[in-house]
Amino acid sequence: MRVLHIAAECYPLLKTGGLADVVGALPQAQRALGSDARVLLPGFPAVRAGLQDAKLAASLPVRFGSDTLTLWQGRLPSGVPAYVIDAPGLYDRTGNPYADADQHPYADNHRRFALLAWVAAQLAEGLLADWRPQLLHGHDWHAGLTPAYLRQIALRDGRRPAASVFTVHNLAYQGVFPATHYAELGLPAEFYRLDGLEFHGQLSFIKAGLQFSDRIATVSPSYAEEIQAAEHGCGLDGLLRYRADALRGILNGVDEQVWDPASDPALPAHFDAERPLGKARCKAALQAELGLAAEPGALLFGVVSRLTEQKGLNLVLAGAEALLAQGGQLLVLGSGEPALEEGFRQLAQRHAGRVAVRLGFDEPLSHRIFAGCDVVLVPSRFEPCGLTQMYGMRYGALPLARRTGGLADTVSDVSLENLAAHTATGLVFERFTQPDFDAAVRRAFALHGKPQLWREVRRQAMQQHFGWEGPARDYLALYKSALG
Ligand code: ADP
Ligand code: GLC
Repeated sequence: MRVLHIAAECYPLLKTGGLADVVGALPQAQRALGSDARVLLPGFPAVRAGLQDAKLAASLPVRFGSDTLTLWQGRLPSGVPAYVIDAPGLYDRTGNPYADADQHPYADNHRRFALLAWVAAQLAEGLLADWRPQLLHGHDWHAGLTPAYLRQIALRDGRRPAASVFTVHNLAYQGVFPATHYAELGLPAEFYRLDGLEFHGQLSFIKAGLQFSDRIATVSPSYAEEIQAAEHGCGLDGLLRYRADALRGILNGVDEQVWDPASDPALPAHFDAERPLGKARCKAALQAELGLAAEPGALLFGVVSRLTEQKGLNLVLAGAEALLAQGGQLLVLGSGEPALEEGFRQLAQRHAGRVAVRLGFDEPLSHRIFAGCDVVLVPSRFEPCGLTQMYGMRYGALPLARRTGGLADTVSDVSLENLAAHTATGLVFERFTQPDFDAAVRRAFALHGKPQLWREVRRQAMQQHFGWEGPARDYLALYKSALG
């Protein structure tokens, strides 16, 4: 099957979160199963620089305010074929792909990402003589207009050029713009309506994806349920209930080549479930690297996260003193909301040697944190899937996670019955409250006080398999139903 993934980020070229990890790994897993999966990306500077063996594939008439418009073809470092849209006026901006240096979303984002979806539809229509996708798989709102452009072609020609699947990685990011921009999208006037991409008087890219795609996926079974109710539905739960038959929850996997503590080049020592000794060396090296006291026995808690409301890190800030009072150490790698950044910076100042904070994005350091920490904190308010709890498990850092979305689907609490059944892999708390979080931290210390039990749970966590083969098969089944 010829599948084109359409996305704004792709590891290792450009990454701001888990979306990039998924787009970097899923097409590779699908190719291993015999599908011809490829990727289409906007030509941000890091993407153009990372594309290997790049050659010009097509020149296009200028659209969406681009000055020049060309399509390039090459390969990702993994070998997956990739197409990159070069539109310098729209994409040639360094740093964050969505916002300027002051964190303000670019004013032309509607045109920047309309172009991405429109080029995908051109490829389905036969832009290139040598390759034409049968199925377009869009990821998040950036690719939301893809099935709308397909529908437009179908209305004109009487047949659709390709089937479509749309994956929601996070329903909270919707790509909503003032209605006055609608004319710039080049879509038929009649698509701007309640059962189209109109959303409370504005235009919504994610709604186009949910409304017009043949099938919808999201990144865990629990989140697929949660987004059909008001609490996590972000105003779209009615539409998702209406399309429930087309919706599937497919849990993300882990790229087990990139995330392997037995061979990870970012680590100072290697280990796995059977030979865990190297983990102690990773912990000592991490404490030294970040200026934490060299205490092998101190329970080391880590956070690797976007610092946003979603991630529940206010619970970590408010619970930090109690965590430290019990003898723990805390390490935070993240960037995002200024108030959270400032809160963690002050915490580190007050507790030098016991709290270390690195503000910014640092891929190799993130690997060393999972390898060196005992516990990875993921107390999310909501979490569509979450990857850091899975990376933590693989690297022997027990997740302390809230029971929501993909966290609920991947972490099994150290309850007495799970301990007895040898299925426990982490510490799970129910309600998004300070007492529940603090109690989970106390349970982590209690478990750590029983070293043999701790090692057993850690081993169980490290033995979990979250590879991409299963999810890749599930997506192929979804594609087949979309092609119908
Ligand atoms: P989300 O996509 O909501 O941010 P995920 O858990 O799915 O959450 O994925 C986050 C990804 O981004 C993981 O690969 C995580 O290690 C990485 N990450 C987040 N913040 C940072 C950071 N500051 N430095 C390096 N990697 C980070
Ligand atoms: C989103 C979600 C996260 C998920 C990731 C990859 O960013 O917030 O939970 O793991 O996408 O699907």
